[in-house]
Amino acid sequence: MGFVLAAAGSAVGLGNIWKFPYMAGQHGGAAFLVVYLGLVFTIGLSVMLAEFAIGRAAERNPVGAFARLGGRAWSVVGYVGVAAGFVILSFYSVVAGWTLAYVVKTATGLLHGASPGGLGRSFGAFVAEPMEPLVYHGLFMILTVSVVIGGVARGIERASRVLMPALFVLLLLLVARAVTLDGAGAGLRYFLAPDFSKVDATMVSAALAQAFFSLSLGMGCMLTYASYLAHGEDLPRLAMRVVALDTLVAVLAGCLILPAVFAFGFDPAAGPGLAFITLPAVFSRMPAGDIFGTLFFVLLAIAALTSAVSMLEVVVAYFVDERGLGRTRASVIFGLVIFLLGIPSSLSMGPWKDFTIAGKGFLELMDYLASNLLLPVGGVMMAVFVGWVIHPRAVAEATSDGTHRFAWAPLWRVICRYVAPVAITWILVGGL
Ligand code: PHE
Repeated sequence: MGFVLAAAGSAVGLGNIWKFPYMAGQHGGAAFLVVYLGLVFTIGLSVMLAEFAIGRAAERNPVGAFARLGGRAWSVVGYVGVAAGFVILSFYSVVAGWTLAYVVKTATGLLHGASPGGLGRSFGAFVAEPMEPLVYHGLFMILTVSVVIGGVARGIERASRVLMPALFVLLLLLVARAVTLDGAGAGLRYFLAPDFSKVDATMVSAALAQAFFSLSLGMGCMLTYASYLAHGEDLPRLAMRVVALDTLVAVLAGCLILPAVFAFGFDPAAGPGLAFITLPAVFSRMPAGDIFGTLFFVLLAIAALTSAVSMLEVVVAYFVDERGLGRTRASVIFGLVIFLLGIPSSLSMGPWKDFTIAGKGFLELMDYLASNLLLPVGGVMMAVFVGWVIHPRAVAEATSDGTHRFAWAPLWRVICRYVAPVAITWILVGGL
């Protein structure tokens, strides 16, 4: 139970509630959802199980795990993960900072007398002003570093036992409000009635990137958490649970945000600001909206914190285990480096808005680099490693030496050996 909570805590975060709806909004709605689900339950689930098997077999951080099971050359997979940790956390913390800011804003009267359009503009004004978002980004990094140093991970895990179900119930409530708004039907149709003419290489590669990001795959977070698992645990079952839970939350977030986007006349392709302009408008249309809104952003910030901790943990575990740095020192130094690396991402939403590469601002570029390149490359190598290099060992791990059944073992083998490497490489090349 503790492991499922920790792994789900890593998986469920801003990727589900902030990123998934705007990716679906940019890439054709329901068709994106269908492609996403297809990738999650084939490649996503298989790579998740691969990470679990490698982690528990090696009982080490990602760099050490690959070196131990496959020899020195394989530890490059671990390095890709450490690099991804730096890049992702830098912009993730910026968005998590917006969440903290919205806790304060909703609690102090943001919603009073504001129109949906006005709430949209107020997000624009907030990110355009350089200092305030940076302060919240810093605050969030301080929280993340404190958890990683304090070893209060257990406390967080225990708290998640209550908070995750609370987030879930609140999401259900908000979905009920959103789908009953005037004009929500068009949004629901957009999200649930697929138009397959929207499927193209860009969209499929976006869906794959989103699958890796949302499931925390390809950088060794799941591998690290699984390295603490007891032998005898049923890994395929655990992988299935974490994947199902994460996907359920993403789909609910889509059913909340997209109907509201259409009801309020926002643009579904608005990009990274979408959740932050839409959610306050939903809260403003419900009784006790201040209270629900504040509570929602608090829970979202905590969900983001449990994900951020898993990313920093990969970086810190590497420097502690392989480079002999002290835990506190490693957490503070790399927390600071990541904070600095996040500054351009934060500015790219406002003062540096016009500085774009290939039509993307800095924040989107960091996200693209990590989610469309580093995570899938890490994922391919993990699949190949399990499919070709340590296959018998990995199967023994997944079945706990044959003590429980693993019905989809043949499928796992085919996906790790052939499907994942070919599909991911094809999608990577096409997407780039
Ligand atoms: N899965 C997390 C989310 O959806 C983000 C994440 C990505 C965490 C990669 C760890 C590693 O918010």
